[in-house]
Amino acid sequence: MEFRLNEDQQMVRDSAREYAATHVLPGAAQRDVDREFPIVPFKKAGEYGFTGVCVPEEYDGAGLGSLELTLVLMEVNAACASTGVTLSVHNSLCLAALINAGNDDQKARYLGKLATGEMLGAYALSEAGSGSDAAALVCTARADGDEFVLEGTKLWVTSASHADMFVVFARTSQEAKRSRGITAFLVERDTPGFRVSKKEDKLGIRASSTCELVFEEVRVPAINVLGEVGHGFPIAMELLDGGRIGIAAQGVGIARASIEASARYAKERHAFGKPIAKFGAIRAKLAEMRARTDASELLTLRAAWLKDQGESHTVEASCAKLIASQNANFCAREAVQIHGGAGYLEDFPVERYMRDARITEIYEGTTEIQRMVISREVLA
Ligand code: CAA
Repeated sequence: MEFRLNEDQQMVRDSAREYAATHVLPGAAQRDVDREFPIVPFKKAGEYGFTGVCVPEEYDGAGLGSLELTLVLMEVNAACASTGVTLSVHNSLCLAALINAGNDDQKARYLGKLATGEMLGAYALSEAGSGSDAAALVCTARADGDEFVLEGTKLWVTSASHADMFVVFARTSQEAKRSRGITAFLVERDTPGFRVSKKEDKLGIRASSTCELVFEEVRVPAINVLGEVGHGFPIAMELLDGGRIGIAAQGVGIARASIEASARYAKERHAFGKPIAKFGAIRAKLAEMRARTDASELLTLRAAWLKDQGESHTVEASCAKLIASQNANFCAREAVQIHGGAGYLEDFPVERYMRDARITEIYEGTTEIQRMVISREVLA
């Protein structure tokens, strides 16, 4: 067993650290205030290969694995969780859909443009009545000759304001058992009848966009069906197995940033005649934050490693997301506490970390859903 990154992986991590410090961190706080989508950092990520980390080189990708993607996402999220989720959804949910389920024609048409960052990808599963119960979705797709006609509404779609390509899950059969009647489609932004509707105002990750999608008689060519008709639900779930590793990486990134900001502040801030870092109460907090973040990181890297081995990683991804998201909230909250009154102000980054951390326990499966996935295996 080897716990050390190899040289190539260290290079990827260092490159991601440099990208995050140079192109993501500057402006992150202001983008959050302005709700400005991180399209500039996203485009820049293309130059580093981070918009197509796991895409084979023949399709202009970096040809790397899930572990390398995880390392990139940890670094980016430590700088800006809005940019982090943009890259996570693009790589783990949209590009992975094509890699896992796309045919040669679909890969030839879209993979290169997505991998280079020319196109931005999104994933549309949730609806008003189907968040945690994903198989309850009602958005329909009716076969009509060599097309499918999509009708309905999708909610909470990350990056939708700027996305060019949407992986959309819709019901193609009312008769089949509910999860068996769902099909996955590739929908381009400029398809007639399709529009990106309301943009949500959020507590955190405010630079990332979260929107409603409306489908009115949207004609999608049958050649844009991903995988087989009626087999979309397992595709959605398999993608979320990978996506949850990305959100776990986001949790690790936020936790690390919380620790770094807290240590810096604790050494500078004086109380009772000495830096607050000298007090046992502060040291105990920092130690707890560090130990729990190590645990989150190891769980996240294990899940990514298993994915790269082609082994089952559903439960391990849920374990990583469960622990890393809870820890991100714990660390960000402690960071605000260590900063005291200053932590409650926008002058310091930790209030942003606290707001950003909250969503990690909600999207890509709530904490309660992760527990459901894990406990099903425990009891099986
Ligand atoms: N991989 C492959 N197939 C899977 C799978 C997996 N991980 N999990 C389930 N399946 C398959 C099952 O084998 C089953 O197949 P058959 O019909 O052939 O038997 C089928 O899918 C149905 O499985 P279940 O009976 O287990 O389905 P369920 O209705 O009980 O739901 C669930 C399971 C885990 C609770 C699922 O609904 C779920 O994950 N819910 C949470 C949804 C979620 O995470 N949404 C996130 C939205 S996207 C987002 O947040 C992105 C973003 O913007 C950042």
